Amino acid sequence: MLDIRYELTQNKKEKPDESALGFGKYYTDHMFIVDHTEGQGWHDARIVPYQPLALDPAAMVLHYAMESFEGMKAYRLPDGSVQLFRPDRNAERMQNTNHRMCLPSLSTEDFIQAVKALVKTDEDWVPHQEGTSLYIRPFVIATEPHLGVRPSATHQFIIICSPVGAYYSTGINPVKIFVEDEYTRACPGGTGFTKCGGNYAASLISQVKAHDLGYEQTLWLDGVEHKYVEEVGSMNCFFKIDGTVYTAPCVGTVLPGVTRMSCIELLKKWGIPVSEERLPVADVMKASKEGKLEEVFGTGTAAVISPVGELRYEGDVAYINDGKIGEITHKLYDTLTGIQWGKIPDDMGWTV
Ligand code: COI
Repeated sequence: MLDIRYELTQNKKEKPDESALGFGKYYTDHMFIVDHTEGQGWHDARIVPYQPLALDPAAMVLHYAMESFEGMKAYRLPDGSVQLFRPDRNAERMQNTNHRMCLPSLSTEDFIQAVKALVKTDEDWVPHQEGTSLYIRPFVIATEPHLGVRPSATHQFIIICSPVGAYYSTGINPVKIFVEDEYTRACPGGTGFTKCGGNYAASLISQVKAHDLGYEQTLWLDGVEHKYVEEVGSMNCFFKIDGTVYTAPCVGTVLPGVTRMSCIELLKKWGIPVSEERLPVADVMKASKEGKLEEVFGTGTAAVISPVGELRYEGDVAYINDGKIGEITHKLYDTLTGIQWGKIPDDMGWTV
C-alpha cells in the first residue's frame, strides 16, 4: 500500500474542446510519481502538478532507452461516475516488461492504487462526449546518471493522463495497412512482447514508408522468415477467413494486448471459432482472391477496434469487405465499448 502525498495545483488548466481532442495532445492538471532506489525499494509517492521532469543529462533512460510504459483508459459512465477497464492486466503486463528490461515493478495492488488516486484527483478531466475517454500512461524510467551499460540504481514510476478522442484521424472508418517485408519488428528472444519505447522507435522507419505510400500503418511479419503475420504498430491484428477468426499467437514476439485478450474471450463466448495459430500472409492474400477474407481489424487500448479496409503486400492489394465495417468487427466494437462506457452490463467482470 502506497502512502501518497498530495501537492495540488493552484492553477487549474482550461479544459480542451471535447469534440476535437485527437489523441495525446492535452494533459491533465496532475501527475503521479514514485521513486525507486536500489536497496530501499519504492518511496516518496506523490501527486503533484503536471510539470517537466528534471533529469540529469546522463540519466540512463536517455542513452540506453531503459524504460517501459503502459496504455489504459478511464471512461465516463452515463450516471457521471468513472471506471477503469481490466487495470490488473496492465499491471501484470508492465511487470513482465520490466522483468525483461531489468526495471523495477510496483505490485499489482500499488499500481492500481496509483492509477485510481490520479484519476480521482483529475476526475473532472474524464471527458463526457461519446467516443472520448481519459488515456492513462504509466511509465518507468531509469534515472541514474551513468554511462556504463548495466541496470540503473534509481528509477521513477510516473503516470500522466490525457483526455482523448479517436486514435486515428479516420475515426471508426477502415484504415489502410502496408505489410512490411523489409524491416523487422521483433524476433524470438527479443523484446517484442514488451511495451518498451525502443520497440516503437524502431518501428517508425516503416511507418514513414507506409505513410509515403498512402497507408496509415504497418503490418509486421515474423522476424525470422518474414512469412507470418504478427501485429500492426499500435494494434494487434485479427483476420476472419471463411468463418474462423485468426490472430497471431503471443509467443514472445507479439504484444499481449488487453483488448486482444478481451476480443478473444468475447468471440469464444459467442461460439465463433478463434485460432491463435501462425497465419502466413500468403494465405491472407490467397483468401482475399478467393473471396474468403471476410474481415480484418486491429485492436488496442488507444485504437479500440479499428477495421482494416485495405492490405498491401509486395505490390498486391487486398480490398476487404468493400471498405465496409464487418459484422464481427461491429459486434466486438459495440460490445467492448458498451462495457467500457457502461452502456451495457459488464457480465465479464472486467470493469473497476
Ligand atoms: C495503446 O494502445 O495503449 C498503445 O500503447 C499504443 C500506442 C499509442 C503506442
